[in-house]
Amino acid sequence: MKVLLIALGFLTMSAAAQGQSTLPERLKAVQGDPVVLKAALDAGRRTTFFCANCHGEEGISKAPEVPNLAGQNPAYLLEQIRKFSVGERKDQFMQGLIKVLNDDERVQVALFYASLPVAPTRADPALAAHGKVLFDKLCLRCHGERAHGAELYPRIASQNVVYLQASIRRYRDRTGVRNNQLMSIATGGLKDDEIVAIASYLSQLP
Ligand code: HEC
Ligand code: HEC
Repeated sequence: MKVLLIALGFLTMSAAAQGQSTLPERLKAVQGDPVVLKAALDAGRRTTFFCANCHGEEGISKAPEVPNLAGQNPAYLLEQIRKFSVGERKDQFMQGLIKVLNDDERVQVALFYASLPVAPTRADPALAAHGKVLFDKLCLRCHGERAHGAELYPRIASQNVVYLQASIRRYRDRTGVRNNQLMSIATGGLKDDEIVAIASYLSQLP
């Protein structure tokens, strides 16, 4: 019996090693091994050479409508890659592009961007102060006190201000580009000028 159990355990382990574990599990496994992690980050930099045209060499966006990926939570990045690839999140370009990444590359890309430093920008102090009051009341409980998020909750501190405004409006207006019931409820009562204030606060937050 004992021998059988050991044999079974061995089989399960080799199944995992052959990539039958889920992608979030693989992400955690790579994060837990410094040598494997270093190799994944190097591979991630190579894989993202094309992404850099829009998301920047260091994950800092080159255009207003493009999100920064630097410092983003890796589990969140992996989940958004999955959503693009199955069409749960709509963006014609990203949906097509992301399909070319295999499972290993998806994990590497998520870890690579997550490892890069963020770049907060300047914002009008009065506007940001107004934004903080709204954020603390409506958003903090999920995105965290410093807006760093966790796991599937995105980091929104230091995100690009134009992208932030557009994203918040889309959830509020239920455009179908992204579907998240909780986000639509949280943003449902926001006026346009309040969205501008929250985005200003977040964009300057380190
Ligand atoms: C032509 C420009 C362009 C290129 C190249 C590009 N992206 Fe994007 N990416 C975008 C835009 C624009 C968005 C925002 C879509 C939206 O508004 O929802 C985006 C969104 C994302 C997001 C979601 C981020 C978030 O905060 O939710 C991820 C992850 C991402 N891209 C990864 C990649 C990866 C990995 C590559 C390379 C394989 C890549 N992108 C290449 C333009 C680009
Ligand atoms: C109940 C939890 C919850 C609350 C409250 C909440 N969020 Fe979110 N937020 C999420 C989750 C989960 C996602 C990812 C959803 C998805 O995959 O589309 C998200 C996504 C976002 C994004 C997209 C980030 C990106 O990189 O594309 C922005 C911006 C955002 N939230 C801002 C806010 C703001 C501003 C508020 C307060 C007005 C708020 N959220 C309140 C859970 C929450």
